[in-house]
Amino acid sequence: MNGAAKGEAPGPLASGSLRVQHHLLLCATPSKPLCVDPAVGAASWDRLKRLVRELGLEDPSRAEGVVWRTKADCLRICGGGPILLIWPEGITYGGVTPERIDRILLEHVIGGQPVSEWIVQRASFDGPP
Ligand code: FES
Repeated sequence: MNGAAKGEAPGPLASGSLRVQHHLLLCATPSKPLCVDPAVGAASWDRLKRLVRELGLEDPSRAEGVVWRTKADCLRICGGGPILLIWPEGITYGGVTPERIDRILLEHVIGGQPVSEWIVQRASFDGPP
């Protein structure tokens, strides 16, 4: 058992090891909707899932590594959402829409160039210099 839902392909842990390029966390439909119009959040999540799949970003043989996506309940911004956090850069985008998902995936995740005008926060696991 690898956690894959019935009828879906095995999850990425099925192979035992995996290279991950990015992890995308989207506050789309939080239980306390503090930052999100639920309709925009749900549409953004649907677009993110579909585009990640269409672009082949979940392919474990992808040279750059796979792209994970997770629907998060809250990313501790709680305003101006939907909120999208991308690791390993620690870049948080606000005001996400389905249209913005397209540009963020193409320019940031694939192209390596964050979309600066929509960034609301930068975070790091590094301590102070
Ligand atoms: S409810 Fe969206 S970040 Fe907290």
